[in-house]
Amino acid sequence: MSSSSLPDPWVRPAAAVPSGVAGTGGLVDRHGRVATDLRVSLTDRCNLRCTYCMPPEGLDWLPKVEVLTDEEIVRLVRIGVEELGIREVRFTGGEPLLRPGLVGIVAATTALRPRPEVSLTTNSIGLARVAPALAAAGLDRINCSLDTVDPVRFKQLTHRDRLDDVLAGLAAAQAAGLTPVKVNAVLMRGMNEDDAVPLLDFCLEHGYQLRFIEQMPLDAHHAWTRGQMVTAEDILERLSAAHTLTPDTEDRGSAPAERWLVDGGPATVGVIASVTRSFCGACDRTRLTADGQIRNCLFAREESDLRTAMRAGATDAELADRWRIATLAKLPGHGIDDPSFLQPSRPMSAIGG
Ligand code: 5AD
Ligand code: SF4
Repeated sequence: MSSSSLPDPWVRPAAAVPSGVAGTGGLVDRHGRVATDLRVSLTDRCNLRCTYCMPPEGLDWLPKVEVLTDEEIVRLVRIGVEELGIREVRFTGGEPLLRPGLVGIVAATTALRPRPEVSLTTNSIGLARVAPALAAAGLDRINCSLDTVDPVRFKQLTHRDRLDDVLAGLAAAQAAGLTPVKVNAVLMRGMNEDDAVPLLDFCLEHGYQLRFIEQMPLDAHHAWTRGQMVTAEDILERLSAAHTLTPDTEDRGSAPAERWLVDGGPATVGVIASVTRSFCGACDRTRLTADGQIRNCLFAREESDLRTAMRAGATDAELADRWRIATLAKLPGHGIDDPSFLQPSRPMSAIGG
């Protein structure tokens, strides 16, 4: 999708900053939630074509001039950490390993004070090569996307024959100490539902922490339907046929995964019921897209344009104020079950997971 088809970014002039918002404090919304977890999309491009995300032919990538430079990204992350109370930074995409400056961006982020937790969500292609450098740059954790361990099905689901690269990436992350290696899996009805147990067995065998995520309506082709979705309940039923699951009673805080001990533990499996048991009320996230737009929610229909302001010479304080204002308007929930729900105009690969 080209950015020209996007709705006008929601930008207010500095004069419209409501009193009490400008100048101080963190990212607070009107429902009392505080955003401390920043997701940064480093590119909208990807080398896979996961069915629930991208069409086989790919998408119209963002024009290069609209994509933030490494310096611009680091500046906005620094403002988030130093001025706005960001305590966790996760780099996503598209596929963040496609960004040549990734290691430098991670190093600059871990050098910030107070030092944020820094993590990466990746499809793991190319990770085998770069995992040691990422660990040396201070990366704390990694989340790898993997929806099947069967090579034929992997090719069906992603339109690429790259399962071996992914598995090598996971092993390299573990060897580099980026642990616990977390694996994210999305199940789709009639496609990879029966991969639930093989995925869990694979992760148990290798010491990876598996989490299933309910598929959300974020696909580029708007094919998602509630009825077709594999629910958390379906997933637990499938897993229970092969393993004994008992609830992990450890407090999950704002972390969205509900966890179960597998066969008495200590291994666990998580299920992120983003749709059927939404955790919007405890959401502590804010998002920066690869082209410099703040989104207060994955499902937001408005964005706030920091790139244009930054390139026009805005100060750190002005950019921080724009970010605060963008946060205030965060809606209480994603409303997927509401008849008036509208999918965001950008797909997940452009928003950042
Ligand atoms: N629903 C749920 N999860 C998704 N992901 C990508 N698109 C969707 C979707 N529509 C997952 C990816 C990755 C993480 C960023 O989100 O598999 O692990
Ligand atoms: Fe690429 Fe991630 Fe989308 Fe798959 S889900 S096509 S790995 S951006």
